[in-house]
Amino acid sequence: MHFSSDAVFSGTGGPYTEEDTPAPVNFYGKSKAEAEQAVLSVYPAAAVIRISLVLGFPVASGNSFLLRFRDALVRGKEQVLPVSEVRTPVDVHTLTEAVLELCENRFSGLLHIGSTDSINRYELAKKAATKLGFDPGLVKALTEESVSKDRAPRHKNGIISVEKARGLLTTPMLSVEETIKRAVLLE
Ligand SMILES: NC(=O)c1ccc[n+]([C@@H]2O[C@H](COP(=O)([O-])OP(=O)(O)OC[C@H]3O[C@@H](n4cnc5c(N)ncnc54)[C@H](OP(=O)(O)O)[C@@H]3O)[C@@H](O)[C@H]2O)c1
Repeated sequence: MHFSSDAVFSGTGGPYTEEDTPAPVNFYGKSKAEAEQAVLSVYPAAAVIRISLVLGFPVASGNSFLLRFRDALVRGKEQVLPVSEVRTPVDVHTLTEAVLELCENRFSGLLHIGSTDSINRYELAKKAATKLGFDPGLVKALTEESVSKDRAPRHKNGIISVEKARGLLTTPMLSVEETIKRAVLLE
């Protein structure tokens, strides 16, 4: 099982299905798109799972937006998040359940796992702050005009369709609201 990303898409369209052609806009997306091809060419029976933004707290360590975000809010530090980046998040519990189910079913091929609707990263952060018990006013909007020129380009609409997963899995794909609630409450 290989984990890929919505960053394989250009982000100018969407919702993207498993049938859509990758057209990454940055190095990360390009490396993820090349990795998908490499994995499937070496092992055609592999499962390639595309995810958009994983929300959860790590058991030990690891890359966790929520953990960094909460630590910053505890220190009263304002957080600035882009309004122009729309994502289809998944909570780590739902992702884990889906992955276990796919292993049991010996799924192979491409599959998108994420929420049934989408949200921009600024709105998502405000909702997460509220659910974590902080003042959502600590979350500020990063507008397109104020993005640093040094920042690598991002795919704007990281919106993946999860219709295939909904038809295939008994694990339910959740709404954004349910996703944030589950990611935050089951710490
Ligand atoms: N997090 C997201 O929101 C998100 C969104 C879309 C796609 N993805 C994809 O999901 C995957 C995991 O991302 P993550 O955010 O969970 O990252 P992460 O927490 O940093 O985990 C990366 C894992 O890869 C291991 N690793 C890194 N370099 C390695 C190497 N050279 N050889 C062997 N193992 C190596 C790390 O091992 P150590 O723990 O030992 O360092 C770690 O367990 C990535 O493929 C990423 O592109 C993540």
